[in-house]
Parts: sequence; C-alpha cells; structure tokens
Amino acid sequence: LKKITAGGDGVGLRTYDPGYVNTAACKSKISFIDGDKGILRYRGYPIEQLAEKSNFSEVAFLIMYGHLPSAEELASWDEALMRHSAIPKAVEDAVAALPHDAHFMGTVLTAINALSTCHPEQNPALAGQDVYKTKEMQDKQIVRLIGKIPAIAALAYHRASGRVYTPPNQRLGYAENFLYMLDANLQSSYRPNPKLARTIDILFILHAEHEMNCSTAAARHLASSGVDVYTAISGAIGALYGPLHGGANEAVLGMLQRIGHTDKIPAFIEGVKNRKEKLFGFGHRVYKSYDPRATIMKTVVDDVFEITGKDPLLDVAVELERIARSDDFFIKRKLYPNVDFYSGLVYRALGFPPQFFTVMFAIPRVTGYLAHWRESLTDPDVKIARPQQDYRGVWLRDYDSVPARK
Ligand code: ACO
Repeated sequence: LKKITAGGDGVGLRTYDPGYVNTAACKSKISFIDGDKGILRYRGYPIEQLAEKSNFSEVAFLIMYGHLPSAEELASWDEALMRHSAIPKAVEDAVAALPHDAHFMGTVLTAINALSTCHPEQNPALAGQDVYKTKEMQDKQIVRLIGKIPAIAALAYHRASGRVYTPPNQRLGYAENFLYMLDANLQSSYRPNPKLARTIDILFILHAEHEMNCSTAAARHLASSGVDVYTAISGAIGALYGPLHGGANEAVLGMLQRIGHTDKIPAFIEGVKNRKEKLFGFGHRVYKSYDPRATIMKTVVDDVFEITGKDPLLDVAVELERIARSDDFFIKRKLYPNVDFYSGLVYRALGFPPQFFTVMFAIPRVTGYLAHWRESLTDPDVKIARPQQDYRGVWLRDYDSVPARK
C-alpha cells in the first residue's frame, strides 16, 4: 500500500476502514491474541501461566525486553523500579492545585503531564530528536514511568480522600508497595495483607498489555510525531479513560448498581436489545469468544470474596451474564464478558471507589504502552501516523462578506 499511494499524481488506492477494524498499523512482537479461540500471550507465554506463576514486576520485564529475567536481571530491575518510585515535588504541587472532586483519571493525567515538564533534558522538542536513541536513554524513561505510576495513583487517591500520602517503601515489592502507599498512613511498619497484595499482582498482570487496543494505538500514534514519552503515555491514558475502553470497569459497576436486583435483569436486557442501554463489560473488538482475562478474573473474584465477604452485586453480575449468554441478541453478535465485567467487583471489594477503577487499569498498562513506544523507536518502517480521509464536503465556493451572507 505504501508503494501504491506513493505515486507521482496523488493517491492510487485508499482503504476506508473506520475504527481500523481491518488495518494493521505496525508489526509487533509483544503480545498475541486469537479472538476466536480466546487466546492471549505475552511474548509467547499464555496469560494463564503468567497469572498463576509469575508476578507483575517479572511480567513487566518480559513485556519490555522479550524474555523472562534471570535472577540478576530481576534484582536490578526491581531495584531500579523502586529507586525511581518517588514523585517530584512539582508533580505533587500540580496535583494539589486541582479541584478536590477531580476525577482520579484527570488527576493522574495531570501528574504525568507535569512529569514531562520535570524532564526537559529528555524532551525531543527541547533536547533534539535523537534524545531517545540509545537503549540507556530508553531504559531510563521506562523505569522512571513504571516506577512512578503507582505513586502517582496513590497521590491521586489521597488527594481525593484527604488522607495522608505515604511515600513509597523501597524495600517492598511492586504490588505490596502500592497497597502500602494507599493504606500505611505514614506508619512505616505497616504491611498489607499478602493475599490482597497477590490479588493486585494478578490484576496488574492481566491488564499489562493487549496489543493494538485503542489506548496503545494512541501511544504509538503520539510517539510517531516524536513527542516526549510522558506526553505519549498521557495521551494513551486519556484514551483509556473512555467508557468504551478502560472506563468500562467503572461503567459496569454503575450499571450493576442501577440494576440492583436480579429481578430487574430481564427489563434491563430488553433495554439493551432496544438500544436504550449498553451492557458494559460485554463485547470486544477482537474477542469473539470468552476473554481469557475474564475467566481468570472470575476466579480472582471468588478468592477475594473469601477474604472480604461476598458482594450482593456478584449475584446480579452472574445472573446478567447467564441471561445475556442464552439470549439470541448476544449469541448472534458473539458478545461475551470482557476483562472489565468482573474487575469492578474485585476493586470494590478491595475498597477502591468506582472513579479509581480505571486508574487500577492504567497502572499496569503503562508497561504495555512503553513496550510499544520502545518497539516503535527501533522499527525502520515507522512513519508519522497520518490516516487518510474520504472528503465529502462542499467542493469549492467563493467567500462572501458578512452583509452578503444569507
Ligand atoms: N451491549 C450491547 N450491544 C453491543 C455491545 C454491548 N456491550 N457490544 C457490542 N454490541 C452490539 C453493537 O450494537 C453491534 O450491533 P449491530 O451490529 O446490531 O449494530 C454489534 O454488537 C457489534 O458491535 P460493535 O460496536 O460494532 O463492535 P466494536 O468492535 O466496534 O466495539 C466495544 C467493541 C466498543 C468493546 C463494544 O463491544 C462495547 O461498546 N462494549 C461495551 C463497553 C466495554 O465493555 N468496553 C470494554 C472493552 S474491553 C477494554 O477495552 C479493556
């Protein structure tokens, strides 16, 4: 296609593909999905094995560098992530200036943009286009962003709750430190429940990477202009915020609360079929069978409820899934639960407010964005992203002065 469209007198062939349903915009070695079979692999490893046997920090390394780390690599990776986990004062101040009732995602976006202003020496617009040329420079941005994103999330959390932000404890693991920052209340001896820390680890693994979804595509799109990595990641998180994408976990909980009771499900399903409602947490551009992450998520729900006690909304969710999956409307369209259908119930059981749910998605997905950012930097085929349009507007007209206009 590149050759066809490069002809002397303009465009020879153009594809019209709204939503890029059939368009591959890059070659990638990071993750693989077979939507018909419900398969997801990170660098060739099945998501089921990683969720059962690995932890987030190791998976983040795998996604980023293509192999599971040796003991030595893992120790130095963990050390680097924790060393970079503190946030600059300027970022704290930018967050402090926001309205007290700002949505958590807006706060996180502000913090990441503020982070970009803290590193002018690594901004291609200021320091030159080849600033990310060396592996060393790329790695620095990677550990900085993966290291800081849990602290940024914790800062946003405390800003809204009015509770004290506890700085990272660099002796703890990634997920454990995240819970520590949320709950320690400045008591350095505090240690989170190990089972809940393991739950967070699994949730982070499930959300870490998912090839060319809307927000990862946005990250690549922004990066193609040569913008600094913080702005590219912030743009991606902006796309994640939407209710059709990462914001669906918050929307699912709102939907379950509105339905409230299993008796109300048939009426709700009728509303969906009449296009008055949307069944959030169902359907996926790529999965036309059960999302493998949703299968794992259902087991996580059971494990968490054993510790926290069962949420009555689980009955609503299970019954909603049962009714939808036996209804022709959903069967014909191959609509199954996606990762977000049950995740909101887990976040709620862990005590997170609904507006924080998408932040819980953004924390691990920063890893996927960065892997794509890094891959795009070394891909000789990458060009600035610039889709075509099919122009349907007025062809040509003459300018009228204001009095002459009708
Ligand atoms: N509820 C009701 N109908 C749906 C749903 C749903 N959740 N999802 C798809 N459909 C219907 C559409 O109305 C359409 O019907 P039609 O052919 O009669 O017009 C058909 O199924 C195909 O759907 P599209 O919207 O064309 O599918 P697309 O691939 O463009 O959209 C999307 C995928 C956005 C995820 C969609 O399924 C959706 O809106 N789901 C709800 C939001 C959600 O859960 N998003 C999270 C996705 S996972 C993630 O991003 C992490």
